[in-house]
Amino acid sequence: MSIGINDLLRDNIKKLVPYSSARDEFKGEASIFLDANENSLGSPLTKWYNRYPDPLQWKIKEKLSAIKGIPPQHIFLGNGSDECIDILYRAFCNPGKDNVIICPPTYGMYEVSAHINDVEVRRARLLDDFQLDLVHLETLVDENSKIIWLCSPNNPTGNSLLREDVEMVLNNFPGLVVIDEAYINFSRHRSFLNELPDYPNLVVMQTLSKAWGLAGLRLGMAFASESIIEIYNKVKPPYNIGQATQDLVLKALDEVGQVNEMIKLIVEMRGRLEKELEALPMVKYVYPSDANFLLVKVSDARGIYNQLLEKGIVVRDRSKVELCEGCLRITVGTEKENSDLIKNLRAIL
Ligand SMILES: Cc1ncc(COP(=O)(O)O)c(C=O)c1O
Repeated sequence: MSIGINDLLRDNIKKLVPYSSARDEFKGEASIFLDANENSLGSPLTKWYNRYPDPLQWKIKEKLSAIKGIPPQHIFLGNGSDECIDILYRAFCNPGKDNVIICPPTYGMYEVSAHINDVEVRRARLLDDFQLDLVHLETLVDENSKIIWLCSPNNPTGNSLLREDVEMVLNNFPGLVVIDEAYINFSRHRSFLNELPDYPNLVVMQTLSKAWGLAGLRLGMAFASESIIEIYNKVKPPYNIGQATQDLVLKALDEVGQVNEMIKLIVEMRGRLEKELEALPMVKYVYPSDANFLLVKVSDARGIYNQLLEKGIVVRDRSKVELCEGCLRITVGTEKENSDLIKNLRAIL
């Protein structure tokens, strides 16, 4: 159902001549680099960072390609998913004219990034079971709708969207459909990565910030058709992923086994935490989760939040968020952190 990706693009991006860096223009072998105004003497560190990094991070993409089964030219790497989100606005959405659709309650940056880019946000609130309201969603679409943002597993609700609902959107919306899979490693459901060849308008976002335990490095991933990835590369800042991040990510990507062990443990602890929370008198309901956090309806969310904070335990108060009234969002911690949390909750009357 998609129209050509080029037809969705902003005119200024269609015409854009991208920045060409010194390292983009250089091809072949060399040993003396006097082309990029770097400091050839070195860095005030044991390891040197005096050279600009690979603008397209090919080594990382090759490793990710082997892990995810997606060819490197279908991968864009951003300074966190937040950069992957922002670039789509800048490339596809005309400020003051175009609109996007979000399905709240959901991750906040789809909306904040829209406001930064002066793009209208239309809201197809999730149904009471936190699934898509397809009927409402369809009524919001018009010829200026450029992106539908879907998050699965969703933050803050923790559930996965029904696959057939997501496919319905993919098969009927002619603009971009972004599925944010930041929490996919904790889910019992399949990623949409394998569906990329069927949908030229699909962008699947993942991140190293969650299961991979690398939030501090800032590495977000967008997987999409080559034409979307080319647009990402045209619009991104030339060196958006620093050398230190590239070096460390390359090392970390060799440790898939260790990451899988952590995922297994977190999923086990999520199950135990869910049961322990359910047994507490102030807990009304623990929503089923496919993520590394639990959404918990409690008797007095703000009061409990404050009492936990006094004990040095910080959770997320989501009680003012639509459909999450009375809820706290609690990340699964270490074994000790989870038992300290439960102990402190038991002490609250
Ligand atoms: C659904 C979702 N997407 C993206 C992000 C941010 O990812 P990153 O750290 O890669 O910017 C978050 C962070 O909480 C999230 O919940």
